[in-house]
Amino acid sequence: MNAIDIINKKRLGGALSPDEIEYMVMGFTEGAIPDYQMSALLMAICLQGMTKEETVQLTGIMRDSGETVDLSEIKGVKVDKHSTGGVGDKTTLIVAPIAAACGVPIAKMSGRGLGFTGGTVDKMESIPGFVTSMERDEFIRSVNETGIAVIGQTGHIAPADKKMYALRDVTGTTESISLITSSIMSKKLAAGADAIVLDVKCGAGAFMKTYEDARELATWMVDIGKGSGKSMTAVISDMEQPLGRAVGNSVEVREAIDVLQGGGPEDIRALSLRLAAEMVLLGDCAGGDRAKAETMVLEALDSGAALEKFRQFVANQGGDPAITEDEKLLGEPAFAVDVRAENDGYITALDAMQIGLASQHTGAGREKKEDEIDMTAGILLEKKTGEEVRRGDLLCTVFGNDKAKVEAGAREAFKAYSIGPERPEKTELIKEIID
Ligand code: URA
Repeated sequence: MNAIDIINKKRLGGALSPDEIEYMVMGFTEGAIPDYQMSALLMAICLQGMTKEETVQLTGIMRDSGETVDLSEIKGVKVDKHSTGGVGDKTTLIVAPIAAACGVPIAKMSGRGLGFTGGTVDKMESIPGFVTSMERDEFIRSVNETGIAVIGQTGHIAPADKKMYALRDVTGTTESISLITSSIMSKKLAAGADAIVLDVKCGAGAFMKTYEDARELATWMVDIGKGSGKSMTAVISDMEQPLGRAVGNSVEVREAIDVLQGGGPEDIRALSLRLAAEMVLLGDCAGGDRAKAETMVLEALDSGAALEKFRQFVANQGGDPAITEDEKLLGEPAFAVDVRAENDGYITALDAMQIGLASQHTGAGREKKEDEIDMTAGILLEKKTGEEVRRGDLLCTVFGNDKAKVEAGAREAFKAYSIGPERPEKTELIKEIID
């Protein structure tokens, strides 16, 4: 077998055999296949696709490339949650403490930013002192004592995905149903949870631009999870415009805290409550009653129990829980540029991918694997789709520590806004729940 033949076979639209997939994936994971050949194969997969059968094989090979975590020492039904990636998506920081406050043990592994989308691990690391890696025993102890621990993917879990994810991030090979399915499901299956809630994003700021593609992705992941004995729910949610008003890292942590304090933008609050309710339901904490799960999560948020759980979670992982009272502890960017409307009207579209790219270029994301993130860089959206503006009104503020990058990010953010004479129709935030 050789790598060039396999790349050519996929480039020409052929279906790879399990042996060929294993040869490339394990060869790359172990260092025998170089980055450039794997990049070529990933691009061929993006362009030609893979069958569901190839995707199931790829997922299994990636899952078995490392360890499988045994979470049996944690009492209760362990429920994981994973987003397919979006812009301004800080739901894990809200949903995990809400579900934990309702009694669902949260033993979760999260990812870093991918392409123009942000990642929970990068956001958590913007909290000074916060540690995103833990030994297994410490992880289990944390969940048993605090009810919640969220760490980065360790090198032992699906190492094939860890390497492929980093390569896809910088080679324009993220948008593929097969690559996303295998990436998410390989590590979720290895991470040991009993049940998984998937947040499948759909729209301009998602890897799946259309509802049909998002639905296919959701169905493939639910089928693969169920085939491995997991309870699964997928929520298909809108990502035409960014979620909430904050895009970046520390700025998103601030917005998550606002929501946990009972405020924050309506869309992020509503989606977080939906996802948390689905977790409570799968975690068997509401006796299978969806309405009861909804009441429980609302109560956890409104009573402050979820905020208290977030503080315990931050403290347990080395951060200062005082960030919930003093946002300055999260740091301040050195430069900020205001972006203003050039005409009157309504915001007819706010392109989430364009905002994600502007935020990435401001320093909040990586352009090369080794790039360091500017944790305080990002964008605050003053106006979103459907809102009225007058010429000169503030559309958004772009900030960070590198003046040239902030100015370039501001020019890009301006291009994300479309302004027209008619107020656009409202789109549904939650499009479907597949369980
Ligand atoms: N999240 C992942 O873990 N992998 C992807 O490919 C996309 C989103």
